Amino acid sequence: MSKSRLEGKVAIVTGAASGIGEETARLFAANGAFVVVADVQDELGQQVVESIGSEKVSYHHCDVRDEKQVEATVNYTLEKYGTLDVLFSNAGVIGPMSTLLDLDIEAFDNTMAINVRGVATTFKHAARVMVPRNIRGSLICTASVAASVGGTGPHAYTTSKHALVGLVKTACSELGAHGIRVNCVSPFGVATPLACRAYNLGPDQIEANSSAVANLKGIALKASHIAEAALFLASDDSAYVSGHNLVVDGGYTVVAHS
Ligand SMILES: NC(=O)c1ccc[n+]([C@@H]2O[C@H](COP(=O)([O-])OP(=O)(O)OC[C@H]3O[C@@H](n4cnc5c(N)ncnc54)[C@H](O)[C@@H]3O)[C@@H](O)[C@H]2O)c1
Repeated sequence: MSKSRLEGKVAIVTGAASGIGEETARLFAANGAFVVVADVQDELGQQVVESIGSEKVSYHHCDVRDEKQVEATVNYTLEKYGTLDVLFSNAGVIGPMSTLLDLDIEAFDNTMAINVRGVATTFKHAARVMVPRNIRGSLICTASVAASVGGTGPHAYTTSKHALVGLVKTACSELGAHGIRVNCVSPFGVATPLACRAYNLGPDQIEANSSAVANLKGIALKASHIAEAALFLASDDSAYVSGHNLVVDGGYTVVAHS
């Protein structure tokens, strides 16, 4: 396969100051893309840009809960790079870890506002750029194994990730007429800051715990594996793939766990 699968393409990656988004921003840039790193963690986001190189990558503050900030990020991308080909709407939070009986409904709303409404808002504003310009773009979001089965994450999180699969399908339905593809990538447990914070464990322990319950043995899931899946969905390698939930879980969600 060629090294530069996104040569000259312009991408926005939300949640790119850390974890899966950061890894994907690096991989997109290494494959020839211009990338806007969008996040709320400004210092970390700037560090990601500096470490990749500011000739290809830039940072823009964007809280995906705020439509104006999303619109401003898309406008910034157009002004800076002239177009928008790929959106990786990856920002997300794990939200409240409580039982259903103790569910904090405001925290539930906040999880939905980031994980679902945030993705819908980024899809909307990316599509508003792509449709009138006839850009045959690729919209991707990050769902989860928690989009397929219950019991792998907390309640608000699982609800939000299931909703993303629906959003992908309905967006795919409308945007197919414009040649725009819409897909999601669904990781199994990866040792990112999100997972470390949620379980109050270090990355080595998170990775060991994930590997212990994983279906596929002999390999530990890394953020780079998810970035490779996002690159596939972003590039012409997946030219006829739309409405798909690309599960990167070593088979975890299709086998029984007794
Ligand atoms: N790590 C896992 O095990 C795992 C598994 C399945 C799915 N995911 C999903 O992967 C995505 C990335 O998570 P990660 O594991 O890399 O975690 P992470 O915490 O390392 O990265 C998430 C990023 O999203 C940003 N973010 C949070 N709220 C935001 C907001 N309102 N606006 C903009 N940015 C915001 C954070 O600042 C952070 O940089 C999430 O959608 C998460 O649900 C992660």
